[in-house]
Amino acid sequence: MRFGLLGTGPWARLAHAPGLAAHDEVDFAGVWGRDPSKAAALASEHGVATYPDLEDLLADVDAVAIALPPHIQGDLALRAAHAGKHLFLDKPVAMTAAQAGQIAQVVHDKGLKSVVYFTRRFLPTLADFIDSAAAEGGWIEARVDHVGTIYDEGNPFGESKWRREMGGLWDVGPHATALVVPILGAVTEVSAIVAPRDMTYLTLRHTTGAVSRITLSVDVPPAAAREEAVLFGEAGIRPVPDPAWDPILAFGNAIDALLAGDTRMDVAFGTSITAVLEAAAESASSGRVVTVTTA
Ligand SMILES: NC(=O)c1ccc[n+]([C@@H]2O[C@H](COP(=O)([O-])OP(=O)(O)OC[C@H]3O[C@@H](n4cnc5c(N)ncnc54)[C@H](OP(=O)(O)O)[C@@H]3O)[C@@H](O)[C@H]2O)c1
Repeated sequence: MRFGLLGTGPWARLAHAPGLAAHDEVDFAGVWGRDPSKAAALASEHGVATYPDLEDLLADVDAVAIALPPHIQGDLALRAAHAGKHLFLDKPVAMTAAQAGQIAQVVHDKGLKSVVYFTRRFLPTLADFIDSAAAEGGWIEARVDHVGTIYDEGNPFGESKWRREMGGLWDVGPHATALVVPILGAVTEVSAIVAPRDMTYLTLRHTTGAVSRITLSVDVPPAAAREEAVLFGEAGIRPVPDPAWDPILAFGNAIDALLAGDTRMDVAFGTSITAVLEAAAESASSGRVVTVTTA
């Protein structure tokens, strides 16, 4: 499959471009970015073309990989899908479930393939754990803490304007939510409160009746950072494995899922995750429990 990359930021450099270049079944055509000089620099690192005009890239590829802020990704993914391109998207799919759902509809109507790069979900140890925990069942509760900082020195993600504005709910919330949904079922209700240092506390009710408690932040003191997840149920207390962070391995596995037409983490799944985040934002601002309408 011939891919074009949209985006020239830290994640395009660290994961998408090397991931596309490394995959045997990918023909990495080239890079588009709003700043042509950044696109040219990234393209030259991988010996691929620069596309100053996005239309020229779309005309030359079968698929796009997008590493852009979610509100920009939403618009461009819709444009690419209308042009009949398969979609390798990053999380979150968009800033509204309505827009994510539009993308999913076009993907469905045109028979396109899609995948959303919920990175850890593509690491084999975690993927196997989720499959076996989902098959086992009997879980009544999950607790996930995805609490860190992007403002430590040298961290490129702290430069990102949308992350500063939207915080951990939209940045790391997709990972935490995508972890619990396959085990406990779709989310039907959300409540959220936000405290200083971007501390965001979600309570999710799932279709199985189980409840998840999720704590998120991208702005804690480094000494308070943690990434932990635990399931509770008939089988007892089961820590979720925390495999070594390997974004290129995960990227390759996500490409494999796309090529195979595996729909478990497609744009429709990504839309359901966006709906939970949107409901959480509404709950945090209204103080009310919010029903998730796409559940
Ligand atoms: N799966 C994961 O584990 C993971 C990890 C990190 C990031 N991500 C996701 O990857 C995406 C990219 O993240 P990032 O860290 O690279 O930072 P980012 O700030 O989300 O994106 C930076 C890129 O977006 C471009 N950009 C910003 N505003 C734009 C606009 N209005 N129009 C066109 N392009 C625009 C920037 O161009 P300029 O350089 O010209 O400003 C740069 O190429 C995000 O959606 C993020 O959630 C996922």
